[in-house]
Amino acid sequence: MKSYTAFSVFIFVIFFLLLGAWCSEEADADDLAPMEKTEQEALYSAIQGFVGKWWNGSDLYPDPCGWTPIQGVSCDLFNGLWYVTVLNIGPVHDNSLSFCFISPYKYPVEIPTENWWKLSESLESLEFRSNPSLTGQIPSSFGDLRKLQSLVLVENGLNGWLTSRIGHLVQLKRLVLSGNCFTGPIPDSFGELNQLLIFDLSQNSLSGPLPNTLGSLTSLLKLDLSNNLLEGSISQLGNLKNLTLLDLRSNNFSGGLTKSIQEMHSLEEMALSSNPIGGDLNSIEWQNMDKLVILDLSKTGLTGEIPESISELKRLRFLGLSENKLRGNLTPKLATLPCISALYLHGNNLSGELKFVEPFYSKMGSRFGAWNNPNLCYTSALVTTGHVPFGVKPCQAEVTLLETNSKTRLEDGGLNQNSYFATSLGFSSHSTDGFWWLGGLLQLIMVLWLNWFL
Ligand SMILES: *[C@@H]1O[C@H](CO)[C@@H](O)[C@H](O)[C@H]1NC(C)=O
Ligand SMILES: *[C@@H]1O[C@H](CO)[C@@H](O)[C@H](O)[C@H]1NC(C)=O
Ligand SMILES: *[C@@H]1O[C@H](CO)[C@@H](O)[C@H](O)[C@H]1NC(C)=O
Ligand SMILES: *[C@@H]1O[C@H](CO)[C@@H](O)[C@H](O)[C@H]1NC(C)=O
Repeated sequence: MKSYTAFSVFIFVIFFLLLGAWCSEEADADDLAPMEKTEQEALYSAIQGFVGKWWNGSDLYPDPCGWTPIQGVSCDLFNGLWYVTVLNIGPVHDNSLSFCFISPYKYPVEIPTENWWKLSESLESLEFRSNPSLTGQIPSSFGDLRKLQSLVLVENGLNGWLTSRIGHLVQLKRLVLSGNCFTGPIPDSFGELNQLLIFDLSQNSLSGPLPNTLGSLTSLLKLDLSNNLLEGSISQLGNLKNLTLLDLRSNNFSGGLTKSIQEMHSLEEMALSSNPIGGDLNSIEWQNMDKLVILDLSKTGLTGEIPESISELKRLRFLGLSENKLRGNLTPKLATLPCISALYLHGNNLSGELKFVEPFYSKMGSRFGAWNNPNLCYTSALVTTGHVPFGVKPCQAEVTLLETNSKTRLEDGGLNQNSYFATSLGFSSHSTDGFWWLGGLLQLIMVLWLNWFL
């Protein structure tokens, strides 16, 4: 951090982070590869759009793909000419690439709308990360960047409706627009992005139903629309047979657990919690979804009983069914799931005897939750006093002496559930990045240091 401060007297500072090595190696090998003047000027003017007209690209970076590389910009050589293939804009953290606004809340900046077409033949990846002062809409001129394979606009202050012209970027494999303030519907045209692997619009204020066209995104591996205001049915998602992650938590989806869900055979993580979906677990043949590792259906208005077929999900590590209207008895088979490490059933109307054995309770600890099921009791013959399930009475209705002891464990349980879950879905986002980096795009890093100048 120290060096940053020292350098901040310069208007524009270059850093070479890890990935910078690539361009310098190239520069040694290939001293001054030519670049088309129009290409070069398009790059300068894109940067100028943020920094201001005073920024003289040809002066500061006469050979941006060669011996004067700009961090965040990387180039590929086609037919002996350099082309800009990656432009990454965001602050420095981890390996991510950077264009850093120092006083983010003071000076709102919008994405320039002009001249993107000049990069339309070459730009493959564009990222703007963690610039809260970057506001306004996504310019519809992004629709000109037809070679784009990755568009990542994460944790900025962007707003307004999503432009339907993003649907023209048919080479996109990754579209991540999470953590902004986008409103309005998901455009129908997004259904044309049939090479998409990763689609993440989470943490915005998008509303309305899912377009039917989403069912055509059959290559999708990860779909994350969590934390929006989306509503209506999710039945069209059944077509997404390669999907491994489906995260729709905290929306307003309804229409029941439609049978089509079970067509998503590849799903490993399905998180639908906090939606008024409703319906009955018995409408799904769970044995068809045997790759599931995480199944979170808490707070989804489920009714009916918990079917035995859930206990065929042998890879299940996390099962969340809490805060629903489930009733009936629990099958002891749930305790035989070989990988289960969190099972939350609290806040339902389950009844009868909990016939799990002590080793199960002791393995799960506070990651087993069954409290707030007034008609449920545990078979005290199967349990010594050290490992009673919190908040569940013994079947003979004696009052236990362990209230206080168990209380602490409940609090741990709440925490554990969250952190467990955050980790597991965090894994998804990291793995998407990992996945992408493996894709072979070479990237460099640009830091624009704008604290006094914007
Ligand atoms: C940028 O710098 C170059 C070389 O120093 C100079 O020739 C050119 O006029 C400058 N351009 C602007 C717009 O100031
Ligand atoms: C789904 O995955 C399989 C195996 O990885 C692959 O062969 C197939 O092409 C994928 N389907 C689509 C529509 O991408
Ligand atoms: C959720 O959707 C229902 C219709 O299914 C609608 O009546 C309700 O207003 C929506 N709630 C919110 C918070 O948008
Ligand atoms: C809970 O289930 C019992 C039967 O076990 C039933 O009598 C009771 O009405 C149910 N309570 C609610 C709130 O549904």
